[in-house]
Amino acid sequence: MSLLELENVSAAYGPVTVLHGVSVNVERGGATGILGANGAGKTTTLRAISGLVKASGRIVFDGKSILGLRPDQVASLGIAHVPEGRGTLSRLTVRDNLLLGAYLRRDRRAITADLDYCLDLFPQLRTRIRSTGAALSGGEQQMLAIGRAFMSRPRLLLLDEASLGLAPSTSANVYSAVGRLRVESGLSMLVVEQNAALAFTLVDNATVLETGRNVLSGTRTELMGMDSIRKAYLGG
Ligand SMILES: Nc1ncnc2c1ncn2[C@@H]1O[C@H](COP(=O)(O)OP(=O)(O)OP(=O)(O)O)[C@@H](O)[C@H]1O
Ligand SMILES: [Mg+2]
Repeated sequence: MSLLELENVSAAYGPVTVLHGVSVNVERGGATGILGANGAGKTTTLRAISGLVKASGRIVFDGKSILGLRPDQVASLGIAHVPEGRGTLSRLTVRDNLLLGAYLRRDRRAITADLDYCLDLFPQLRTRIRSTGAALSGGEQQMLAIGRAFMSRPRLLLLDEASLGLAPSTSANVYSAVGRLRVESGLSMLVVEQNAALAFTLVDNATVLETGRNVLSGTRTELMGMDSIRKAYLGG
Protein backbone atom coordinates (compact mmCIF):
# COMPACT_ATOMS: atom_id res chain seq x y z
CA MET A 1 0.00 0.00 0.00
CA SER A 2 1.32 3.44 -0.93
CA LEU A 3 1.76 6.06 1.78
CA LEU A 4 -0.27 8.59 -0.22
CA GLU A 5 -2.75 7.88 -2.98
CA LEU A 6 -4.61 10.47 -4.99
CA GLU A 7 -7.11 9.09 -7.43
CA ASN A 8 -9.32 11.11 -9.73
CA VAL A 9 -8.98 14.28 -7.63
CA SER A 10 -10.79 17.38 -8.78
CA ALA A 11 -10.70 20.84 -7.24
CA ALA A 12 -12.08 24.27 -7.99
CA TYR A 13 -11.61 27.88 -7.01
CA GLY A 14 -15.17 29.15 -6.82
CA PRO A 15 -16.89 28.21 -10.06
CA VAL A 16 -13.66 27.42 -11.91
CA THR A 17 -12.53 23.78 -11.84
CA VAL A 18 -8.75 23.62 -12.14
CA LEU A 19 -8.04 19.95 -11.33
CA HIS A 20 -9.89 17.46 -13.51
CA GLY A 21 -9.24 14.03 -12.02
CA VAL A 22 -5.59 14.03 -11.01
CA SER A 23 -3.95 10.80 -9.81
CA VAL A 24 -0.59 10.49 -8.07
CA ASN A 25 1.04 8.10 -5.58
CA VAL A 26 3.88 8.33 -3.10
CA GLU A 27 5.38 5.05 -1.90
CA ARG A 28 6.66 4.65 1.65
CA GLY A 29 10.15 6.10 1.67
CA GLY A 30 9.67 7.18 -1.95
CA ALA A 31 9.84 10.52 -3.69
CA THR A 32 7.39 11.41 -6.44
CA GLY A 33 7.56 14.49 -8.64
CA ILE A 34 4.77 16.60 -10.10
CA LEU A 35 6.01 18.43 -13.17
CA GLY A 36 4.26 20.86 -15.45
CA ALA A 37 4.12 24.41 -16.74
CA ASN A 38 2.69 27.51 -15.02
CA GLY A 39 -0.95 27.08 -14.16
CA ALA A 40 -0.96 23.30 -14.68
CA GLY A 41 -2.42 22.66 -11.22
CA LYS A 42 0.69 21.54 -9.33
CA THR A 43 0.22 23.85 -6.35
CA THR A 44 -3.51 23.16 -6.26
CA THR A 45 -2.78 19.42 -6.03
CA LEU A 46 -0.65 20.00 -2.92
CA ARG A 47 -3.29 22.35 -1.52
CA ALA A 48 -5.95 19.67 -2.03
CA ILE A 49 -3.86 17.21 0.00
CA SER A 50 -3.32 19.78 2.78
CA GLY A 51 -6.99 20.70 2.99
CA LEU A 52 -6.37 24.22 1.76
CA VAL A 53 -8.71 23.86 -1.17
CA LYS A 54 -11.89 21.82 -1.36
CA ALA A 55 -11.44 18.68 -3.41
CA SER A 56 -13.35 15.60 -4.53
CA GLY A 57 -12.13 12.14 -5.51
CA ARG A 58 -9.94 9.94 -3.36
CA ILE A 59 -7.08 11.17 -1.16
CA VAL A 60 -5.80 8.42 1.11
CA PHE A 61 -2.88 8.78 3.51
CA ASP A 62 -1.57 5.67 5.26
CA GLY A 63 -4.76 3.80 4.42
CA LYS A 64 -7.21 6.46 5.62
CA SER A 65 -9.13 9.06 3.69
CA ILE A 66 -7.99 12.60 4.46
CA LEU A 67 -10.41 14.23 2.05
CA GLY A 68 -12.27 17.07 3.73
CA LEU A 69 -9.95 17.35 6.74
CA ARG A 70 -8.86 20.80 7.91
CA PRO A 71 -5.24 21.86 7.30
CA ASP A 72 -4.35 21.50 11.00
CA GLN A 73 -5.81 17.97 11.02
CA VAL A 74 -3.79 17.01 7.95
CA ALA A 75 -0.64 18.48 9.52
CA SER A 76 -1.21 16.57 12.73
CA LEU A 77 -1.25 13.29 10.77
CA GLY A 78 2.34 14.02 9.77
CA ILE A 79 2.05 15.81 6.44
CA ALA A 80 4.28 18.89 6.27
CA HIS A 81 3.71 21.37 3.46
CA VAL A 82 6.46 23.72 2.34
CA PRO A 83 4.43 26.14 0.24
CA GLU A 84 5.39 28.08 -2.83
CA GLY A 85 6.81 31.36 -1.51
CA ARG A 86 8.17 29.55 1.57
CA GLY A 87 5.93 30.97 4.29
CA THR A 88 8.64 31.55 6.89
CA LEU A 89 7.91 34.16 9.51
CA SER A 90 9.84 37.31 8.87
CA ARG A 91 9.84 38.69 12.41
CA LEU A 92 10.99 35.52 14.10
CA THR A 93 14.60 34.42 14.25
CA VAL A 94 15.86 31.41 12.34
CA ARG A 95 15.96 29.46 15.60
CA ASP A 96 12.38 30.36 16.52
CA ASN A 97 11.13 29.58 13.03
CA LEU A 98 12.72 26.13 13.30
CA LEU A 99 11.36 25.53 16.80
CA LEU A 100 7.92 26.59 15.63
CA GLY A 101 8.02 23.57 13.32
CA ALA A 102 8.25 21.38 16.42
CA TYR A 103 5.43 23.03 18.36
CA LEU A 104 3.27 19.90 18.50
CA ARG A 105 6.12 17.77 19.82
CA ARG A 106 6.89 17.06 23.45
CA ASP A 107 10.16 15.13 23.05
CA ARG A 108 12.46 17.98 24.02
CA ARG A 109 15.74 16.09 23.72
CA ALA A 110 14.92 14.84 20.26
CA ILE A 111 13.90 18.36 19.27
CA THR A 112 17.32 19.67 20.29
CA ALA A 113 19.01 16.90 18.33
CA ASP A 114 16.83 17.58 15.28
CA LEU A 115 17.61 21.29 15.47
CA ASP A 116 21.28 20.44 15.40
CA TYR A 117 20.76 18.05 12.48
CA CYS A 118 18.90 20.77 10.60
CA LEU A 119 21.76 23.19 11.09
CA ASP A 120 24.20 20.54 9.83
CA LEU A 121 22.02 20.01 6.80
CA PHE A 122 21.91 23.76 6.13
CA PRO A 123 25.15 25.23 7.55
CA GLN A 124 24.18 28.65 6.23
CA LEU A 125 21.33 28.69 8.73
CA ARG A 126 23.68 27.97 11.61
CA THR A 127 25.62 31.15 10.91
CA ARG A 128 22.33 33.08 10.78
CA ILE A 129 20.62 31.46 13.72
CA ARG A 130 19.80 34.78 15.42
CA SER A 131 18.84 36.65 12.25
CA THR A 132 15.20 37.26 11.57
CA GLY A 133 13.48 35.59 8.65
CA ALA A 134 13.24 38.94 6.90
CA ALA A 135 17.02 39.32 6.85
CA LEU A 136 17.61 36.07 4.96
CA SER A 137 18.33 35.60 1.28
CA GLY A 138 15.79 33.72 -0.86
CA GLY A 139 17.88 30.57 -0.69
CA GLU A 140 18.23 30.81 3.08
CA GLN A 141 14.47 31.32 3.43
CA GLN A 142 13.89 28.19 1.36
CA MET A 143 16.30 26.25 3.58
CA LEU A 144 14.51 27.60 6.64
CA ALA A 145 11.10 26.58 5.30
CA ILE A 146 12.34 23.04 4.63
CA GLY A 147 14.10 22.91 7.99
CA ARG A 148 10.97 24.06 9.76
CA ALA A 149 8.93 21.35 8.02
CA PHE A 150 11.53 18.74 9.01
CA MET A 151 11.33 19.90 12.65
CA SER A 152 7.76 18.62 12.80
CA ARG A 153 9.22 15.15 12.03
CA PRO A 154 6.67 14.54 9.30
CA ARG A 155 5.96 11.26 7.56
CA LEU A 156 5.42 13.02 4.25
CA LEU A 157 6.90 16.25 2.94
CA LEU A 158 5.05 18.29 0.31
CA LEU A 159 7.57 20.57 -1.39
CA ASP A 160 6.36 23.26 -3.79
CA GLU A 161 8.86 24.75 -6.28
CA ALA A 162 11.81 24.93 -3.93
CA SER A 163 13.95 26.28 -6.77
CA LEU A 164 11.73 29.25 -7.59
CA GLY A 165 13.72 32.48 -7.91
CA LEU A 166 16.99 30.90 -6.79
CA ALA A 167 20.32 30.88 -8.60
CA PRO A 168 21.11 27.46 -10.12
CA SER A 169 23.87 26.75 -7.62
CA THR A 170 21.57 27.59 -4.70
CA SER A 171 18.78 25.38 -6.08
CA ALA A 172 21.29 22.57 -6.48
CA ASN A 173 22.35 23.01 -2.83
CA VAL A 174 18.77 22.97 -1.63
CA TYR A 175 17.97 19.82 -3.63
CA SER A 176 21.06 18.01 -2.49
CA ALA A 177 20.15 18.77 1.15
CA VAL A 178 16.63 17.46 0.56
CA GLY A 179 18.16 14.36 -1.05
CA ARG A 180 20.28 13.87 2.05
CA LEU A 181 17.19 14.24 4.22
CA ARG A 182 15.49 11.58 2.16
CA VAL A 183 18.35 9.11 2.48
CA GLU A 184 19.19 9.80 6.12
CA SER A 185 15.71 10.06 7.57
CA GLY A 186 13.72 7.96 5.10
CA LEU A 187 11.31 10.84 4.66
CA SER A 188 8.73 10.29 1.89
CA MET A 189 8.09 13.25 -0.37
CA LEU A 190 5.91 14.72 -3.07
CA VAL A 191 7.90 17.31 -4.95
CA VAL A 192 6.39 19.94 -7.23
CA GLU A 193 8.95 21.39 -9.58
CA GLN A 194 8.99 23.17 -12.94
CA ASN A 195 12.69 22.45 -13.31
CA ALA A 196 12.47 18.81 -14.32
CA ALA A 197 16.23 18.29 -14.47
CA LEU A 198 16.44 19.33 -10.83
CA ALA A 199 13.43 17.24 -9.83
CA PHE A 200 15.00 14.17 -11.43
CA THR A 201 18.00 14.49 -9.09
CA LEU A 202 15.59 13.64 -6.26
CA VAL A 203 12.49 11.74 -7.36
CA ASP A 204 12.05 8.08 -8.40
CA ASN A 205 8.96 8.70 -10.48
CA ALA A 206 6.85 11.60 -11.61
CA THR A 207 3.68 12.70 -13.26
CA VAL A 208 3.32 15.58 -15.68
CA LEU A 209 0.24 17.79 -15.35
CA GLU A 210 -1.26 19.91 -18.08
CA THR A 211 -4.32 22.07 -17.38
CA GLY A 212 -5.26 20.01 -14.35
CA ARG A 213 -4.84 16.56 -15.90
CA ASN A 214 -2.11 13.90 -15.85
CA VAL A 215 -0.63 13.68 -19.31
CA LEU A 216 2.31 11.37 -18.59
CA SER A 217 3.50 9.36 -15.62
CA GLY A 218 6.43 7.04 -15.18
CA THR A 219 9.71 6.31 -13.51
CA ARG A 220 12.47 8.87 -13.72
CA THR A 221 14.32 6.71 -16.25
CA GLU A 222 11.25 6.26 -18.44
CA LEU A 223 10.41 9.96 -18.40
CA MET A 224 13.97 11.13 -19.00
CA GLY A 225 14.11 8.88 -22.04
CA MET A 226 11.06 10.42 -23.68
CA ASP A 227 11.62 12.91 -26.48
CA SER A 228 8.61 14.98 -25.45
CA ILE A 229 9.95 15.36 -21.91
CA ARG A 230 13.45 16.15 -23.11
CA LYS A 231 12.17 18.84 -25.46
CA ALA A 232 9.61 20.45 -23.14
CA TYR A 233 11.34 20.15 -19.79
CA LEU A 234 15.01 19.23 -20.14
CA GLY A 235 16.16 21.72 -22.74
CA GLY A 236 16.33 19.36 -25.73
N1 LIG B 1 -6.61 31.37 -5.44
C1 LIG B 1 -6.99 31.15 -6.70
N2 LIG B 1 -8.16 31.61 -7.18
C2 LIG B 1 -8.55 31.37 -8.44
N3 LIG B 1 -7.83 30.66 -9.32
C3 LIG B 1 -6.65 30.18 -8.93
C4 LIG B 1 -6.16 30.40 -7.60
N4 LIG B 1 -4.95 29.81 -7.49
C5 LIG B 1 -4.70 29.26 -8.70
N5 LIG B 1 -5.72 29.48 -9.57
C6 LIG B 1 -5.80 28.97 -10.96
O1 LIG B 1 -5.76 27.55 -10.91
C7 LIG B 1 -4.97 27.02 -11.98
C8 LIG B 1 -3.90 26.13 -11.40
O2 LIG B 1 -3.02 26.93 -10.61
P1 LIG B 1 -1.84 26.33 -9.75
O3 LIG B 1 -1.36 27.41 -8.86
O4 LIG B 1 -2.26 25.06 -9.12
O5 LIG B 1 -0.78 26.01 -10.89
P2 LIG B 1 0.77 25.63 -10.78
O6 LIG B 1 0.95 24.42 -11.63
O7 LIG B 1 1.19 25.53 -9.36
O8 LIG B 1 1.47 26.87 -11.49
P3 LIG B 1 2.87 27.63 -11.17
O9 LIG B 1 3.94 26.76 -11.80
O10 LIG B 1 2.74 28.93 -11.85
O11 LIG B 1 3.01 27.73 -9.69
C9 LIG B 1 -4.46 28.22 -12.75
O12 LIG B 1 -5.28 28.40 -13.86
C10 LIG B 1 -4.60 29.37 -11.77
O13 LIG B 1 -4.83 30.56 -12.46
MG1 LIG C 1 2.52 26.56 -8.23
